[in-house]
Amino acid sequence: MSERKVILYIAASLDGFIAKKNDDISFLSMVENPGEDYGYGEFIKTVDTVIMGRKTYDKVLTFGIGFPHKGRKCYVLSRTKEGTDENVEYYNGHLNDLIQNLKKVDGKNIFIDGGAGAIKELKEQNLIDEYVISIIPVLLGNGIRLFAETENESGLQFVESKTFDTGLVQLHYRTVIDQ
Ligand SMILES: NC(=O)c1ccc[n+]([C@@H]2O[C@H](COP(=O)([O-])OP(=O)(O)OC[C@H]3O[C@@H](n4cnc5c(N)ncnc54)[C@H](OP(=O)(O)O)[C@@H]3O)[C@@H](O)[C@H]2O)c1
Repeated sequence: MSERKVILYIAASLDGFIAKKNDDISFLSMVENPGEDYGYGEFIKTVDTVIMGRKTYDKVLTFGIGFPHKGRKCYVLSRTKEGTDENVEYYNGHLNDLIQNLKKVDGKNIFIDGGAGAIKELKEQNLIDEYVISIIPVLLGNGIRLFAETENESGLQFVESKTFDTGLVQLHYRTVIDQ
């Protein structure tokens, strides 16, 4: 079996924000289109483990539609919470250990759900294998940046791009491993 991949799958405005400053993500609804899930259904079938930051988990709980990852192992990164609840396990250890331990066992891919805090640390430690970024056709102007500033440059290899009638453009890259 091939190694499980760690995949960031997320939507952002063209100017690179995943939410407004007040955590408003209503811009995502501008590409809602009945019958079009932008490949999410196929993607999530390849996933059995989800990792997200504590703020993203708190936001998901406000949707009031039930936890979307029931049946998947879900880790919520947090330094303020610990233990488990009915949906998730809180994690405050080394991210490298978490990913390497997941990769040691057979399984499906590992979905990085965001937000920016979780992405920053995983990316800094070169733990993200692939990026699937859905660009929403709007310039939000301000908010929470998908990618925080860093001193490190990361090489990417293009995998594919898809365009949709709503103006959403989905970009897929894989990380280039330095030899
Ligand atoms: N556009 C999209 O598709 C999309 C997707 C996901 C999220 N979002 C949005 O993004 C926003 C949240 O993003 P965010 O960047 O503010 O927060 P976040 O990344 O979801 O959560 C940040 C929190 O994660 C914990 N954390 C991060 N790194 C950690 C580490 N190495 N070890 C332990 N804990 C760690 C900390 O929790 P503690 O404070 O508990 O220590 C930190 O405060 C929300 O508005 C959400 O709706 C949008």
